[in-house]
Amino acid sequence: MAQTQITPEALRDDRRLPKAPEPGAMVIFGASGDLTRRKLIPALYDLAAQRRLPMEFAVVGLSRSPMSHEEFRDRLRDALEEQRDGGVSDDVWESFSKGIFYLAGDSRKPETYEELRGFLGELDEERGTQGNRMFYLSSSPSLFPTIVERLGEAGMNQGEGGGYARIVIEKPFGRDLMSARELNAGIQRYFEERQIYRIDHYLGKETVQNILALRFANGIFEPIWNQHYVDHVQITVAEDIGVGTRGAFYEEAGALRDIVQNHLMQVLCLTAMEPPVAFDAESVREEKVKVLRAVRRMDDGEVERSAVRGQYERGWVWGEEVPGYREEEDVDPSSTTETFVALRLFVDNWRWAGVPFYVRAGKRMPKKATEIAVQFHAAPHTPFSRNGTEGLEPNVLVIRVQPDEGVSLKIGAKVPGSGFEVRSVNMDLLYGSAFLEEAPDAYQRLLLDLMLGDPTLFIRADETEGAWSILEPVMKHWSESGEIPFYPAGTWGPEEADELPERDGRGWRRP
Ligand code: BG6
Repeated sequence: MAQTQITPEALRDDRRLPKAPEPGAMVIFGASGDLTRRKLIPALYDLAAQRRLPMEFAVVGLSRSPMSHEEFRDRLRDALEEQRDGGVSDDVWESFSKGIFYLAGDSRKPETYEELRGFLGELDEERGTQGNRMFYLSSSPSLFPTIVERLGEAGMNQGEGGGYARIVIEKPFGRDLMSARELNAGIQRYFEERQIYRIDHYLGKETVQNILALRFANGIFEPIWNQHYVDHVQITVAEDIGVGTRGAFYEEAGALRDIVQNHLMQVLCLTAMEPPVAFDAESVREEKVKVLRAVRRMDDGEVERSAVRGQYERGWVWGEEVPGYREEEDVDPSSTTETFVALRLFVDNWRWAGVPFYVRAGKRMPKKATEIAVQFHAAPHTPFSRNGTEGLEPNVLVIRVQPDEGVSLKIGAKVPGSGFEVRSVNMDLLYGSAFLEEAPDAYQRLLLDLMLGDPTLFIRADETEGAWSILEPVMKHWSESGEIPFYPAGTWGPEEADELPERDGRGWRRP
C-alpha cells in the first residue's frame, strides 16, 4: 500500500489528531511530591470519571521513598478525598487505581531505568499499554538534566515496538537564560521537539485560552487592539496566599522565576500576539515567539525605572494576621528574595509601539486575582459639562482569568434622572452563568492534550529562552543590589510599585 505523504499542511491540521487517547503509560518522576497528589492524580481521576482515559492506561509513580503500590494508591486516595471533601466515586477510583503503580528508585542511577523499562514492559503485557510512554518530570528541577540523560542512555527516548515516547517538563524551566539553553540542548540531544512538552499550567486554564477566543472569534475587538486605540495594558497575577510550606523552593525562585517568566509572559504573549493562521502548535507558538522577540530589552537605567520588586512583611489578609516572608518556614531571616514584581514593558512592533504593558505578580496581596485589563484612550471630546462627566473613566476591557471568570467592559452611561450626568458602569459576562458548566482544571486539559499528542498549549524551546532573555537584565541588576523594598501583607505591593504607572500619569487598577 502506498504511504500517505505527510505535508506541512497536514502536520498543521489538528483534525488529524486522534480524538481519544491511545493506550499508554505515564511515569511520574518525583511522585511523592505535592504536584502528583494535588494536581496530576485528581486530573487523571476526573478524566477517568468522564471516561476519557483509555482502559489500557497506567500511571507509574517513581520516587526514592520505599512504598508498595497499595500504600501509594492509599495516599493518593486520601489526598483526593481531602480535596474533594469526600466526593470520590468508589467505582471510578476502583477501576482507575488498578492502573496506578509505584516504583522506588533513585532517578540518578542507571539501574533504576533498567528496572523501570522492565516494569513498563510488563505493563504492556498486562495492561495493554502498547509501548507508549509519557515521562512526567515533576522532581526537583536540579534533577531534570540527569533524568533526561538517563532516559536517553537507556534508549527510552523511543517507545517500545513502534509506540511513542513523550517527555513533560514541569516549571521552572531553568533559572536563567544560560541554564534554560543548557536544559533545552540536553533534552534535544535525545528527544525531538515534537516529543517535548514543556508545561505551564496557565495555558490549560479555560480563561487564558479564552483570550484567543475573545480576540480572534469576534470581529469587533481586533480592529481596536492596537496603539491607535489602546492607551496601556495591565496584567495582574495576584495571590492572597504566602509561600506556605514551599519556603525552600521559593527562596531559590522568587516571584520573577516562579510566575513572571512563565505564567505572566504567556498571558502577555496571548494578549499581544498577531492572529495565528491556525490554532495548531506551530502557528500559535510562532506568533508568541514574535512577541517575546519584540519585547524591549532593558538596560540598567531602564531596570531602575521600570522594574520594582518587593517582599511581604507581617500584615493582615482577610482579617487574619499573617507572618512576614522572612518569618516563614525554611526562609532565611535576612532573605532578599522577591515575593512581588512589577514591570513596565514595551512590545516594540507596529501594533504596540509606545503602549506600556504594566505587569505585576505578588504573594500576600489583598485577594487572589488574575486579570488582563486593556485600557483604551479616553473619548477625544465629550459634549457634556465637566461636572456631568466627573464619574466618567476611559473604556477598559477586563478579562478576568480567575476568580469570577469572565469579561467586563467599562463604558460610560447616563445616570438616570434629569440633567446629563454620565458615569462609568460595567457590562459583565460571567462564564459560570453563560455556560452553566464548571471549567475543567488546567491539568486535566493539558494531560489530555499530552495523551493526544497535541503540543499547542505547551511551550516551545525558543519561548522559554525568549522569556528568560527579557528578564535577564532585571535578574542581573537585582542580584547586584541587596536592597529590597517591603510591603505589608494584605496590600498591593511596595510604594515603588505605585510610582511605576504614576510617573506616566497612570495608576494601577484595583482588581
Ligand atoms: C505555580 C507557582 O506555578 O502557580 C505557585 O509555583 C503559584 O507559587 C501557582 O501559587 C498559582 O497557580 P494558580 O493556578 O493558583 O493561579
